[in-house]
Amino acid sequence: MATNDESTIAAPAGTIAAPARGASSPSPTPPAPGAPSPTPPAPAVVVEGLAKSFGDVQAVRGVDFEVAAGEVFGFLGPNGAGKTTTINMLCTLAKPSSGSARVAGHDVVHERDDVRRNIGLVFQDPTLDGYMTAQQNLELHAELYGVQSDLVAPRMQQLMEMVGLWDRKDSPVATFSGGMRRRLEIARGLMHSPRALFLDEPTIGLDPQTRRSIWTYIRELKESEEITIFMTTHYMDEAEWCDRIAIMDHGQIVALDAPETLKAGVGTDRVTIQTEDDDAAIAALEDRFGVRANVSEGAVTFGVPGGEEFVPRLFAELGVPIRAVSVSRPTLDDVFMSYTGTTIRDAEEDSSKHKNRVMMQMMGARR
Ligand SMILES: Nc1ncnc2c1ncn2[C@@H]1O[C@H](COP(=O)(O)OP(=O)(O)OP(=O)(O)O)[C@@H](O)[C@H]1O
Ligand SMILES: [Mg+2]
Repeated sequence: MATNDESTIAAPAGTIAAPARGASSPSPTPPAPGAPSPTPPAPAVVVEGLAKSFGDVQAVRGVDFEVAAGEVFGFLGPNGAGKTTTINMLCTLAKPSSGSARVAGHDVVHERDDVRRNIGLVFQDPTLDGYMTAQQNLELHAELYGVQSDLVAPRMQQLMEMVGLWDRKDSPVATFSGGMRRRLEIARGLMHSPRALFLDEPTIGLDPQTRRSIWTYIRELKESEEITIFMTTHYMDEAEWCDRIAIMDHGQIVALDAPETLKAGVGTDRVTIQTEDDDAAIAALEDRFGVRANVSEGAVTFGVPGGEEFVPRLFAELGVPIRAVSVSRPTLDDVFMSYTGTTIRDAEEDSSKHKNRVMMQMMGARR
């Protein structure tokens, strides 16, 4: 089950009407010249100073952001950054320690049922019932959410066709692959026609091809359902699919913009060199070129503007033998590094080492 310190998600009371569609779609006829411009749709999510602590752990340290209606918005960050905690607060599963958030126009603390009625949620950990068939899982969800009974069958067929599972509707979910389950969970989250879909690590642990196909569905959804999508990931390549991303580290948003804008903002290329002596190479880079480098994922890595032009100088002047060199355009990992000084993978290794150390200390203390 998903981390949940306050309550489990409950079916909102009463029958839930499918929300009105088209509020955010462009008008089919252009407005007459001089006519007042249409009011932009209200943001789907508005977050102000949102924070959550668990005892001494400040999981989310006061974040502010807005998600526009119809946007695909991503939270990118390493393990423990606070992504799930944020999503849980937005979905009313965890109560903020301070700050406020509105989802689909409703306050997540004071209007919990209204928020729940308007959102779909795909948890980080799978929550399908393996003994039931795909169809039964979706029907149960529709019942819990009070979807009008004559709408259930057509909606189910539409969604299962969209995620390519209609021909498997009668199979028990236990016989599904990981990717099929994830696709079914996405379909389930949409059964009650939510205005916003929250996906916590929708593709974690899946192979690259399945991850890609899930992303194709998510992008299609944006068009076909006019829905706002809020998702978390720690895969950099996935964040590229989002319209905008917030990069999160240690409970804070360190950068927020469109992936292309963030990458363009780095202003340097990434150069990676394999050397005979990494420490000497790092010292020489600082000394001769004024460039700060570090060892990342086993290689000396640094950023310079015009990386390709820099390479010949590097060979001529470094004074430390170089075995291999590569130059790449900035990635989102470089964006992460430029704000945090570490790569996401290294941040995750540090976090798991820290956890192991704490565990060892606890075990030692028990002996
Ligand atoms: N119920 C809880 N009780 C105590 N600490 C918690 C709880 N939930 C989260 N935390 C802590 O809050 C911090 C943020 O956790 P969170 O699950 O939000 O991170 P995340 O970004 O989703 O990470 P991951 O990528 O591993 O899913 C971590 O230090 C975590 O240990
Ligand atoms: Mg998480």
